[in-house]
Amino acid sequence: MDKKIRVVVLFGGQSSEHEVSRISAKSVLENMDPNRYDIHMIGITKNGEWLRYNGDIKHLASGEWEGIARANLISESIRAVGDAATCMDLIAVRGQDGRTETVDVAFPVLHGPNGEDGSVQGLLQLAGVPYVGCDILSSAACMDKEFTKLVLNNAGIPQAGYIKVLRDEIEGSIQVIKSMVDERIGWPCFVKPANAGSSVGVSKVREPENLLEALRQAAKYDNKILIEEFIDGRELECAILGNQHPMASVVGEIKPSNEFYDYNAKYLDGKSDTIIPADIEPQVAEQIRNYAVKAFKALGCSGLSRVDFFLENGTNKVILNEINTMPGFTEISMYSKLWAASGIPYPELIDRLIQLAFEKHEQSIRSYERT
Ligand SMILES: Nc1ncnc2c1ncn2[C@@H]1O[C@H](COP(=O)(O)OP(=O)(O)O)[C@@H](O)[C@H]1O
Ligand SMILES: [Mg+2]
Repeated sequence: MDKKIRVVVLFGGQSSEHEVSRISAKSVLENMDPNRYDIHMIGITKNGEWLRYNGDIKHLASGEWEGIARANLISESIRAVGDAATCMDLIAVRGQDGRTETVDVAFPVLHGPNGEDGSVQGLLQLAGVPYVGCDILSSAACMDKEFTKLVLNNAGIPQAGYIKVLRDEIEGSIQVIKSMVDERIGWPCFVKPANAGSSVGVSKVREPENLLEALRQAAKYDNKILIEEFIDGRELECAILGNQHPMASVVGEIKPSNEFYDYNAKYLDGKSDTIIPADIEPQVAEQIRNYAVKAFKALGCSGLSRVDFFLENGTNKVILNEINTMPGFTEISMYSKLWAASGIPYPELIDRLIQLAFEKHEQSIRSYERT
């Protein structure tokens, strides 16, 4: 039998989506074939420590993994940056005999800043380790909702209008900001951190007097905040898989249990519904799939992404909301469900993502000679 592929699954991370990542990672690990992969786990704590974890994956969701990993720290440490001989050693695991072993591929199951935003991708790039998902630039551009808008406006994809506000403008300029919303966006509006996810810091603002509080809330998570025009519509999602020739899945619909798809509706109350495939006109589904592929290419994505849309009530207009380069992988998450409904079961999806990582790594090789 062929040698197993040594894969490192990174989970947790310094982000407000740390907990979601642990649940995503558990689900990825459950669907990764141990006969095919030599699986290693590294958990990143909220304080930024990287801990090798050898325990049962059932302890990921509860957070108990951390205590178990710490107890084994002395015998099972991962190589720290300080004692790395070259960049290649930045990501390596120490085997039972104490020797360091390089890894074949990394799967950063990390959501949000410091994980999905190009930072960890940069570390893996420097280390020369192939990794699942988007590269530095596309991860960063998709994490930052303003940059996503700038690139996709250029590609001619419809999106909600917005106003950008910086954290230190909020207190002194709230009256000016309110007037700008009156003139350009209208009420209700949506306030969100430019760089965040899982609806953390997102609020719907109906009245001008609630704007300040919403801006303060969003500003906890990012220095840059977007105030967006409210789109009254259905929420539709499409999964993308591939590198230069990406494929689009069937389209799914989210029916949030709350007024909008907030953190509670996404992960806590268990009452939101997903409908796959969405009950929409075939030409609307086709438009969504086309926009999803176009957006993926325009942003230079690779491997995977989930592209989220609104279908506006009344006008039937398709409006792109955002693109997630490391979408949720929990049991209830759309990404794997959309592929299962499109003919790719979860374990095969993992295999394909890892193959795409190797392919992308080959494509990214460049010469440093000037001949
Ligand atoms: N402009 C908007 N109009 C209507 N609903 C919105 C708008 N922006 C966000 N929402 C609602 O808030 C949710 C979270 O916002 P989103 O921009 O997707 O942030 P996140 O990256 O945290 O998922 C969306 O799924 C949707 O329910
Ligand atoms: Mg979203």
